Amino acid sequence: MHTSERQEFYTENGFLVLKNFIPIEACQLLMNRMSQLIAEFNPDHIKTIFSTKNQRPTLQDYFLESGDKIRFFFEENAFLPNGDLKFEKALSINKIGHALHDLDSIFYCFSRLHKIAMLADELGLIDPLIVQSMYICKQPLIGGEVTCHQDSTFLYAKEKPVVGFWFALEEATLENGCLWVIPGGHRTPPKLRLICKDQTIKTEQYDDSPWDLTQMIPLEVPRGSLIVLHGDLPHMSKENVSPKSRHAYSLHLLSRDSEFSDENWLKRGAHLPFKGFVD
Ligand code: FE2
Repeated sequence: MHTSERQEFYTENGFLVLKNFIPIEACQLLMNRMSQLIAEFNPDHIKTIFSTKNQRPTLQDYFLESGDKIRFFFEENAFLPNGDLKFEKALSINKIGHALHDLDSIFYCFSRLHKIAMLADELGLIDPLIVQSMYICKQPLIGGEVTCHQDSTFLYAKEKPVVGFWFALEEATLENGCLWVIPGGHRTPPKLRLICKDQTIKTEQYDDSPWDLTQMIPLEVPRGSLIVLHGDLPHMSKENVSPKSRHAYSLHLLSRDSEFSDENWLKRGAHLPFKGFVD
């Protein structure tokens, strides 16, 4: 697809699928690095947070404080009632977020590849800031469903919605829980917003009509593909029912001419402000 075709398709549909966007070696590099980070991560001190006996607010705080950290989130039901993991650690983690792109040198360099910056520019993002990164494991057999949502619900930007860059580090198929999107659905402004003030989360619903899931199409992609998602595009992924994992790395970019709402859950302190592609 040529530049103008890509721009046209993105404007019309709210997403883009770019196969072979990154080399397999880059996928493997990120996977190896994550496997190291997981190996070094000691879940003992957070067992109580995730243990079923614990209070919900503690888990919520663990999430709310992760905007400028590298934190590990477990699959639902990964723990036994006594706080022990049911399965081995590396197969129990749902995702890792949300500042890998600023705090880990390998993820830092990958996230700032010239090719990514060029594509962001092509899509009309002005000198964008990378506001969030997530490494998503979608574990074999237990990787849970992510219901239909718009990313703007969680990362609201005032003038121009954020844009998600989703890299398939492994192939994504119907069986292992590929992304599904509603083409053109990005014309609907956020139906719901997550508002966070003083460590308290509430939701604001602007439209309670259900998404027409019959409009969803699956985006099965080979390893090394990039899927671009407009922040208002409804998307989801189903459970991973296969014995294969579906690792992905995602970035969310904010055009600098758009204001990131200070009511978003994701906060950055003065010690680690949002950065763009160049220092
Ligand atoms: Fe999403």
